[in-house]
Amino acid sequence: MDWKTIILGAGAAGLMCASTAGSGVLVIDHAKAPGEKIRISGGGRCNFTNLHCTPEAFLSENPHFAKSALARYTQWDFIDLVDRHGIAWHEKTLGQLFCDGSAREIIAMLRAEMDQAGATLWLSTKIIGVQPVDGGFAVEVERDGQRSVLRARSLVLATGGKSIPKMGATGLAYDIARQFGLRVTETRPALVPLTFPDNPFKPLAGVSTPVRAYANGTHFDEAMLFTHRGLSGPAILQISSHWHEGEPIDIDLDPTGALLPALKAQRQSDGRRQLGTALSQHLPGRLVSYLGETHDLSGRVADQSDRALSALTDALRAWRLTPGGSEGYRTAEVTAGGIATDAFSSRTMECTSVPGLYGIGEAMDVTGWLGGYNFQWAWSSAQAAGRAISAT
Ligand code: FDA
Repeated sequence: MDWKTIILGAGAAGLMCASTAGSGVLVIDHAKAPGEKIRISGGGRCNFTNLHCTPEAFLSENPHFAKSALARYTQWDFIDLVDRHGIAWHEKTLGQLFCDGSAREIIAMLRAEMDQAGATLWLSTKIIGVQPVDGGFAVEVERDGQRSVLRARSLVLATGGKSIPKMGATGLAYDIARQFGLRVTETRPALVPLTFPDNPFKPLAGVSTPVRAYANGTHFDEAMLFTHRGLSGPAILQISSHWHEGEPIDIDLDPTGALLPALKAQRQSDGRRQLGTALSQHLPGRLVSYLGETHDLSGRVADQSDRALSALTDALRAWRLTPGGSEGYRTAEVTAGGIATDAFSSRTMECTSVPGLYGIGEAMDVTGWLGGYNFQWAWSSAQAAGRAISAT
């Protein structure tokens, strides 16, 4: 064998795996630089983990699959690594940890760890194909215009999902998994803005408001942003992972439930105000004008009965919308779905039907919430595979 292990993909998971898998490891990537998604993540500051990371923050056909890896390499372990490398960080909101400086520090850290472990990195290398061979795998590559076949005892699929093809994302891991007879669950863009036919929200572009957004029985309390193409903002990105084409989403514009009592109080204290004006104290003015096209917001607050105010606030708390689609893989932060976990050990990430084959990171059917969860899955799953490989 030329190598003990070949890792396909030098992204978050591949780099982390290489730093723990021991010597004799080759990491291959077709990109010119490693960790490109790390570099652009979190607006250039990389939201590298989340203080509140628990298995409940991940979607998968098998919700239990992520538990073992997340428990054995936690957010605290990654924070410890970041601290050891002297990278300054801060909590932005909701447990989301970002670099104070640049995401490049995380890439440099992973490179340093990998170099220390003695792993080799080949960039600008095209992966032509993979074949099983006696005692391992053969990977055909093209590098500097030369084709060669490399043999390794174990192979790690770490080429991520399909999001942002412009950055080099491909479905390679899925293709190789299928080639080995493994199942790939339905994949779809996730953490992605939702679009609407003839976007009715165009006049509201740029307006942001706190909401509770529901899809498929799940909800998130965060900000929603109206855009030229539809809806975005953290609340929408989060529910996009749970939404399926053709289904409606429900928006609660009054997530704290404070609107009805506030309007009733205004009826007493300031009843001469127009209902629309009163509403503008609680919702963005442009949104109120838009809502005025479909709801009667004329008349004074003093003239509104309890019933009328309840009917209005009930409607604002259950705004049902049916998106036409999403912005797709072009802008999706992640790919939901992926290589089905049922043929893999949750402890080692090794395939039970193809010994020596490992799957880690976004390529697997494990998708985290927005807020550092997807990187934590990449680190945790990579550590699980790396440790298992180093023990072989
Ligand atoms: P990743 O995609 O990182 O790496 C895959 C590697 O495989 C790449 O280097 C690619 O070039 C290579 N590859 C693919 N196909 C190949 C082929 N055919 N041949 C050779 N190489 C190939 N998450 C988070 O937790 N916090 C955040 O702040 C963000 N922010 C963010 C912003 C944006 C714009 C995006 C697109 C995504 C995020 N994410 C995120 C998600 C996060 O980036 C993602 O979940 C991880 O990078 C997944 O790590 P992987 O190593 O599995 O794949």
